[in-house]
Amino acid sequence: MSAPPPSAGRLFLVSNRLPVTLSEGENGLEATLSAGGLATGLVGLHQESGGGWIGWPGLTTADGTLSTEVQEALRARDLIGVGLSEEEHRGYYQKLSNQCIWPLFHYFKERMHYDDDDWEQYVAINRRFADAVLAEVQDEDVVFVQDFHLMLLPAMLREARPNLRIGFFLHIPFPSSEVFRIFPRREELLRGVLGADYIAFHTMGYLRHFRSSVCHLLGLETRTSSIDLGDRSVRLDSRPLPIDGWRWGPGSEEDEQKIADYQQELAEMADGRQLVLGVERMDYTKGIPERLLAVKDFLAEDPSRVDRMFMVQVAVPSRAEVDDYRELKDEVDRLAGSINSEFGRPGRLPLHYLYQSVPPWQLRALYRSADVALVTPLRDGLNLVAKEYVASRLDNDGALVLGESTGAAWELGEALRVNPYDPDAMCRALGHALDMPKDEQIARMAPMRERVLDNDIEKWARGCLHAIRRSHRVGPAPAPLGVDARQELLENWQRGTAPAILLLDYDGTLQPFAQRPEGAVPDPELLSLLRRLAQLPQVEPWVVSGRPPQVLDEWLGATGVGFVAEHGAYLRNPGAKEFQSLLDNDALTWRDDVRPILERFVGHVPGSLIEEKAVGLAWHYREADPVLGAWQARELFQHLTELLPDQGVQVMRGNKVIEVRPASVSKGMSSRRILKALDPAKDRFLLAAGDDITDESLFRMLPDSAWTLLVGSRKSQARFRLENPAELRALLTWLADCPPPAPTAASSQAAGSADRS
Ligand code: UDP
Ligand code: G6P
Repeated sequence: MSAPPPSAGRLFLVSNRLPVTLSEGENGLEATLSAGGLATGLVGLHQESGGGWIGWPGLTTADGTLSTEVQEALRARDLIGVGLSEEEHRGYYQKLSNQCIWPLFHYFKERMHYDDDDWEQYVAINRRFADAVLAEVQDEDVVFVQDFHLMLLPAMLREARPNLRIGFFLHIPFPSSEVFRIFPRREELLRGVLGADYIAFHTMGYLRHFRSSVCHLLGLETRTSSIDLGDRSVRLDSRPLPIDGWRWGPGSEEDEQKIADYQQELAEMADGRQLVLGVERMDYTKGIPERLLAVKDFLAEDPSRVDRMFMVQVAVPSRAEVDDYRELKDEVDRLAGSINSEFGRPGRLPLHYLYQSVPPWQLRALYRSADVALVTPLRDGLNLVAKEYVASRLDNDGALVLGESTGAAWELGEALRVNPYDPDAMCRALGHALDMPKDEQIARMAPMRERVLDNDIEKWARGCLHAIRRSHRVGPAPAPLGVDARQELLENWQRGTAPAILLLDYDGTLQPFAQRPEGAVPDPELLSLLRRLAQLPQVEPWVVSGRPPQVLDEWLGATGVGFVAEHGAYLRNPGAKEFQSLLDNDALTWRDDVRPILERFVGHVPGSLIEEKAVGLAWHYREADPVLGAWQARELFQHLTELLPDQGVQVMRGNKVIEVRPASVSKGMSSRRILKALDPAKDRFLLAAGDDITDESLFRMLPDSAWTLLVGSRKSQARFRLENPAELRALLTWLADCPPPAPTAASSQAAGSADRS
C-alpha cells in the first residue's frame, strides 16, 4: 500500500495482540507469527502508513512492564509493546475478555463468568493502552482500535484528546441487544466504543444489534448509519474484513517448492481419496466436535466412504490457560481418536488430526489440496479461513461447506451453507460437496473467488481510513465557561448602569428533566434563588420557557420573575399578574387537525402522551420504549411536516418530544420584544441560558456582547457552555452573592424609571 501524504496523519493500529508473538527461547527472544483473524488480517497495514501497531506481544512479566530488549525487538518491526503482568493477563485477558465478553458475544451465555475484580483489570489495562497510544500520537494522526479487548479505549482517548480521529472495528459478532444486555457493565462498554468517530462491524446484522443496544440501553436516538451525540456524530458501518489476495496466489520459488512437496505428502496420505479440510483455532465457537461427530455419522452411514474421503483437521492451540479451551481439546482428542479407531484400518486412517499451528506455506498447500473445506463454526464474527480457501483455488474448483452463522456467509453466498447444529444437514452437505461435479464446483467457486480477490485488504483499509478522517463533526460545542470568562462575566455584571436581564430557560436548564413533564416541579432551592434574583434592584430575571402560562404561574409565579410562556406565545412582565398574548386571532385553527393525529400515535406507542398547551400541542415519548419512540417520532415528524405546510405552524423536534406551534412565535422573537421595550443606549448586562434547540433562536437574537450559555454539550450558537443545571444554579447564586451596586437616587431615576417604555 502506498504511504498517505504526511499531512493526512499516520495510522496507529491498536489491538490486544500484536501480529508477532515473542517468547523467551533457549537462544533469547524468539518471534513467531500470531494466529487468528485479527493478527493475520491486518498485518502490513501499519508499516506503510508511517505509524505503528500498539499491542501486547504475548509474554507476561512480573511487574507488567516490558524490558528494553523486548521493546527494541518490537520497534524494529514498527510495533509498540504494552506489557502485562500475570495477574493482569488473567483478569483482563483470560477472564474478562475471553471468559466473559467472548462467550457472550458469541451467544454462549452459559460460559460467561463475570467478576467485578476482572472488570477493574479490564478498565485498568484499557487505560494502560490509552497511555501507550497517547505517548505516540499527534492530533492529526488516526487511531484505529481493534476488537473486544479494548472497548473502553476509544472514550478514554477521546477524553484526553478530543480532536483525535478514532476508529473502532469489532472482529467478533455484536450480539442481539437481548443478549448484550446480560453483560453487567453494558452501558460502560457502549459508551467506551462511542468515543470513536467511526465504528465498523463485519455485517449489517451486527451493526443493527449495536444500534438497537445503544438505543435501548443509553436511550440515544440513532439513524441508519450514525448516532448523534450532540457535539459530534458517530458513523456506523459494515465492512467485512477481506484477505490479502496475493498471499494465497502463486508464491516465491522457495515457497512453491515446499508447497509442492507437502502436497505430494498429502496426496500419498490420501492415497486416491478426496481430501476434506478443517482449519481453525481450538475454540468452542468453531464447532470442531460437532463437525467430527457429523463426520462420524457420515462414515457410520456407509463405512465404505472411508475409501472415498480423507480428512485433515488442523486445530491451532489457543487460550489454553482457560478451562473451557482445555476441556475442548480433550474432547476433540477423544473424538479424533474414536473416528480413527472405529473406521480406520492399518495404513488407511480416515482422519489426520494436527493440534498445532502451521506455517503459511503449509496452510497454502492444505488449501490447494483440499477438495472440500468444511468451515462450520457454530458462530463466528467473520471467518477468514473460508475466504483464504476460496482465494487459494487457482483453478476455481473445490467445494466450500460454510456454517450459516459466520459473518462470511453473507459474502460467500455460493457456498453450501449449513446449520452446524444439525448433524443430518452436515452429512448431506458433506455428501453433496464430495459428489459435486466439476462444472458445479466452478459455477460456485468462480464468483466467490472473484469477489474475495476484488475486495482486498488495501481497499478495505483505505475505506476505513477515509471514513474515519471524514467522519462528521457536527461542530464544536461552545467552550466551557472557564475561570477567566467567569471573572469577566462578573465584572460585566457589576458594571452595568441599567438593570441586568437574565433570560433563563426552565426544563433542562434551571431544572433537570423528569420522566413526565409534570414531574419537573421546582425545588425550594430554585425558588429561593429566583426570588433572590428578582428582589435585586438592578436585576430583571425572566424564565423563557415552552411551558404554558398556568404552569409557570403555579410553579414560579410567587418568585416575581418575568415569563415568556409557550416558546413566546405569551409574555408576563416581572412582578405583573396577567399574561399578554402575542398571537394572531387565527393562530390556533390547526389544532383540531393535529390533535387526532397525536392521539393515534399515543395509541401506537405505550408510555407516550400529549401535552395540551395554550397554543402548542406536544407529543412526549420520554417514557416510551426508546426504539419504538424514536422510530414513531420520525414518522410523526414527517407526517406533520407534510400535512401542515401552509398553515403557519412549525413542527419541532425537541428532547424526546415533537411539538407543533404557530410559526410566528419563538423564544427569540419574544425576547426581542422584551429588549425593545428597554432603553438601548444603556450599558446593560445580558445573559441567556438554555439547553434545547428552541433556545438557539434566543442565542441568535442577542447582541454579541451578551453572555449566552448552553447547558449541556452540542453544537450551539451560545458563546460558552455549562455542564448541567446545577452548574448554572451555582453561577447564578454566585452572581446573586455579588450583585450589581444598588442605584443611587439620581441614577435610579435616570436608569430605572426611563428604562422600560
Ligand atoms: N492461521 C494461523 N495459524 C495457523 C492456521 C491458521 O494464523 O496455524 C490463520 C488463518 O490463516 C486465518 C486465521 O488464522 O487467517 C484465522 O482467522 P479466522 O477469521 O478464520 O478465525 P479467528 O481465529 O480469527 O477466530
Ligand atoms: C479472534 C479475535 C482476535 C484474536 C484472535 C486470536 O480472531 O477476534 O482479537 O486475536 O481470535 O485469539 P487470541 O486470544 O490468541 O488473541
